[in-house]
Amino acid sequence: DTKGLKDYYKNYFPIGVAVNTHNLTGNESKLILKEFNSLTAENDMKMGPIHPSPNRYNWRNADSIVRFAQKHHLKLRGHNLCWYKQTPDWIFVDHYGNTVSKDSLLRRLKSHIATVVDRYKNSVYAWDVVNEAVSDKDTSFLRNSKWLQICGEDFIDSAFCYAHEADPHAQLFYNDYNIINPQKRTKIYRLLKGLLNKGIPITGVGIQAHWSLTEPTREALETTIKLFASLGLKVQITELDISTSHRWNAQQKGSLVERKRISDSLEALKYKMVFEVFRKYKKYINGVTFWNLSDKYTWLNHYPLRGMRNYPLLFDTLLNRKAAYWGVVNW
Ligand code: XIL
Repeated sequence: DTKGLKDYYKNYFPIGVAVNTHNLTGNESKLILKEFNSLTAENDMKMGPIHPSPNRYNWRNADSIVRFAQKHHLKLRGHNLCWYKQTPDWIFVDHYGNTVSKDSLLRRLKSHIATVVDRYKNSVYAWDVVNEAVSDKDTSFLRNSKWLQICGEDFIDSAFCYAHEADPHAQLFYNDYNIINPQKRTKIYRLLKGLLNKGIPITGVGIQAHWSLTEPTREALETTIKLFASLGLKVQITELDISTSHRWNAQQKGSLVERKRISDSLEALKYKMVFEVFRKYKKYINGVTFWNLSDKYTWLNHYPLRGMRNYPLLFDTLLNRKAAYWGVVNW
């Protein structure tokens, strides 16, 4: 079979994958080029890795991902410009070790965003500008991060304005997880509607899509996509994986092998369903990205449940297509 995911979906949306530099050689790079037409750096463009100290940028890994994308004419998403994790400690602290003022923190954010976005303005077509700023707690709106503590809500507006100034052509996204959850979805809707009302430059919402065998339901997914589309925003699926080692699986009886057989087929059904929905709403969806290439490496194995490995992607540990793959391309 000479077709890859990107070919099946050529009339729909680009199909992307999160990568590290070690994926860009040998069999993994062959698989990437056969199946995908878009990339995201899994870690290498985040503020901590790329800007480890005030006057030092570490461009090496990000540059090699950019070169690979350019050489092979792949689209490239930038991830991300402002987050509460993988952010260097220095940015919140002044020369005396005290917390910086709002003004200086925003100046630092501006200089970071201007430098990174400008460097990649000919290669990155879309940025996750602000990542995970909304709280998961019912009782609060925004996440109680250092950004919020020091700047109040302004850091969000400012980040989008800085990114737009640095590259007026880039698509700018707000990216978050657990968006299917009605309470959190409502808060994100409120945040984005507020940005639009203020005239802040934002293109769309990134739905991370770290999902499981039980979530989301078809109805919840459709509701979510329609809700954000109603604001006139684009929707991207930015970090798709379907965890097979989840509460559901931990409760099942039977050997690991039996449980894996069941979870493989449930996973395929889940992938089939979510892609049916993505195709149905292709008018609003302008990108779908998987969070890693194959089950050989997935960030979900950093969080094992009852010692189970996770198998959340379309290719197995030997890079072969799984049932989930056929769920995505057979329709
Ligand atoms: C994860 C990476 O996959 C891991 O390698 C790293 O250790 C932590 O970050 N939401 C995001 C991504 O926006 O950047 C995260 O990526 C996964 C959750």
